[in-house]
Amino acid sequence: MTFTVAIDGPAAAGKGTISRGVAAKFGFEHLDTGLLYRATGRRVLRGDDPVTAAGALQPEDLLGDDLRSGEVAQAASRVAAIPAVRAALVEFQRAFARRAGGAVLDGRDIGTVICPDADVKLYVTASDDVRAERRFQELRAAGADVTLQSVLADLAERDARDAGRDTAPTKQAEDAFLLDTSGMTIEAALAKAVQVVGAVYSSGG
Ligand code: DC
Repeated sequence: MTFTVAIDGPAAAGKGTISRGVAAKFGFEHLDTGLLYRATGRRVLRGDDPVTAAGALQPEDLLGDDLRSGEVAQAASRVAAIPAVRAALVEFQRAFARRAGGAVLDGRDIGTVICPDADVKLYVTASDDVRAERRFQELRAAGADVTLQSVLADLAERDARDAGRDTAPTKQAEDAFLLDTSGMTIEAALAKAVQVVGAVYSSGG
C-alpha cells in the first residue's frame, strides 16, 4: 500500500511537529524535505558547488545540530532557489513518497510539484508574529543568542525568497486543506491534521 501525505507551508508554522505526529499516528514514515536543502546549504557554506552538493548528498549529511542554525537555514533558502539543485533532489523525494506503508513529506512544494497526486494535502501556516515567537522560544531553549526582532527579520527574508522564486515557490496547492495554527495549541493543530488525514485514510485513500 502507498499513501502519501503532503504538508507544505512557510517556516516555523508547525509543519514539523504536525508531520511527525501524523506519521506516528498512522504508522507512516516521515521525510522533512527542508533537511535536504539545509544539508546542501551546509555543504555550500563549506565551499562546495550547490548543484554538485545536492547530487552528492549522503545519509550522514542529514545529521548534526548545526543543520538547524539560522546561518544554514539562510543558505538552504538560497540554494533552494536554484532550479538545478531542486531537480537533483526530486527523485529521492518521489521515491520516498511511494514507499510501501505510507509516507508524510513536509516542505514547500510537496503538494504542488513533488507529489501533485498526494492522497492528502495540508497547507500549514500561522501569522508572522506567531511564527517568529515560536521560533524565538525554540532557539532560546536551545541556547542561541537571538532577539525576537532578529528572528522575525530572518523569517521574513527567507519567506520572501522561498515564496518569490520562479521555480517551485512556497504555495498552497488548490486541493490542499488550509490549517492556520495562529490561535491554536500545537496539540489542537495536530488533532485537526489527524482528523483530515484520517477521513481520507479510513475511506481507503
Ligand atoms: O523547512 P525548513 O525551514 O527546514 O527549510 C529550509 C529551507 O529549504 C527553506 O527556507 C526553503 C527550502 N525548502 C524548499 O525550498 N523546498 C522544500 N520542499 C523544503 C525546504
